[in-house]
Amino acid sequence: MLLDTYGRVATDLRVSLTDRCNLRCTYCMPEEGLQWLGKSDLLTDDEIVRLIRIAVTRLGITEVRFTGGEPLLRPGLVGIVEQCAALEPRPKMSLTTNGIGLARTARALKAAGLDRVNVSLDTLRPDVFKTLTRRDRHRDVLDGMAAARDAGLTPVKVNAVLMPGLNDDEAPDLLAWALDHDYELRFIEQMPLDAQHGWKRDGMITAGDILESLRTRFTLTEEGAEERGSAPAERWLVDGGPATVGVIASVTRPFCSACDRTRLTADGQVRTCLFATEESDLRGALRSGGTDEEIAGLWKAAMWGKKAGSGLDDPSFLQPDRPMSAIGG
Ligand code: GTP
Ligand code: 5AD
Ligand code: SF4
Repeated sequence: MLLDTYGRVATDLRVSLTDRCNLRCTYCMPEEGLQWLGKSDLLTDDEIVRLIRIAVTRLGITEVRFTGGEPLLRPGLVGIVEQCAALEPRPKMSLTTNGIGLARTARALKAAGLDRVNVSLDTLRPDVFKTLTRRDRHRDVLDGMAAARDAGLTPVKVNAVLMPGLNDDEAPDLLAWALDHDYELRFIEQMPLDAQHGWKRDGMITAGDILESLRTRFTLTEEGAEERGSAPAERWLVDGGPATVGVIASVTRPFCSACDRTRLTADGQVRTCLFATEESDLRGALRSGGTDEEIAGLWKAAMWGKKAGSGLDDPSFLQPDRPMSAIGG
């Protein structure tokens, strides 16, 4: 079991498969991209599957989320999913993606055993998409989502970040559109995890702003704490339900006390939190003949050191060295 000193147990593993991405979202990375990890730094497909096997069979992990960067850029993704689906007990498996290329791979991913996907989409306007992501790929994302839904990778959740002056007027339109397409929409507060360190607390759109904007067009009723469990998203029934909308308010309403996550970076480091300032190396143990038991022990020790919270409200808060794209969301 992956227990920490605050009594939390991690059952949800987020695995970053690559730090690369084919978009350049302004709240994530600069136009020129980043210094990507080298090939030999990256875990191989077999190393990833081995670590997931250890997590599932020895450490109590029941859910695995594949992230990036952009995880669809990893050539071995379908094979990794297939091998994880054969594990006993079989973990639940999901993917968080920008949607580009999903139209081509959704069916293969479903056949390999993937359960569902979350796709990022911040705007319905192609021109705003191009400004926000610096790439003209709006159509590919919409096609990817539809393909995922049609392939049964459901519920398809849509993640939207609102940026002042760009898409902050779009919340009601995005919700109307999501309801129409049978997608579960969640708004995410912008977090200080961008490579450029450009985040400002007083410049961000808060959960309060988002709810106020949605209420101009919809009636929202809050779901109970029981339904939420350890999920980052607080959810509201829209116009009496059953459809819902979520808000992930990491900054203004942190949910760290219920956190059930552990993270693995594409180069084999355990991170206890998105905002952790330290990492624990598993790749070294993997490559120097470490046994499953030894690796499980390193992972447990890393999680034991998990901090109480993100520290965002501390005056001494320091943004982690790794940006979001290299942590895996
Ligand atoms: P599901 O609802 O089960 O699909 O999970 P999820 O909401 O965690 O999935 P997703 O990968 O789509 O993440 C959505 C947003 O939540 C991203 O912006 C993540 O960075 C953020 N998020 C995920 N895990 C954490 C966490 O442990 N702490 C914080 N503060 N934010 C998180
Ligand atoms: N703040 C909040 N969300 C972010 N994402 C990427 N960078 C940030 C940030 N700085 C979102 C993406 C994706 C999810 C994994 O994280 O839009 O939906
Ligand atoms: Fe790529 Fe996601 Fe970062 Fe956008 S937010 S640049 S899609 S990793």
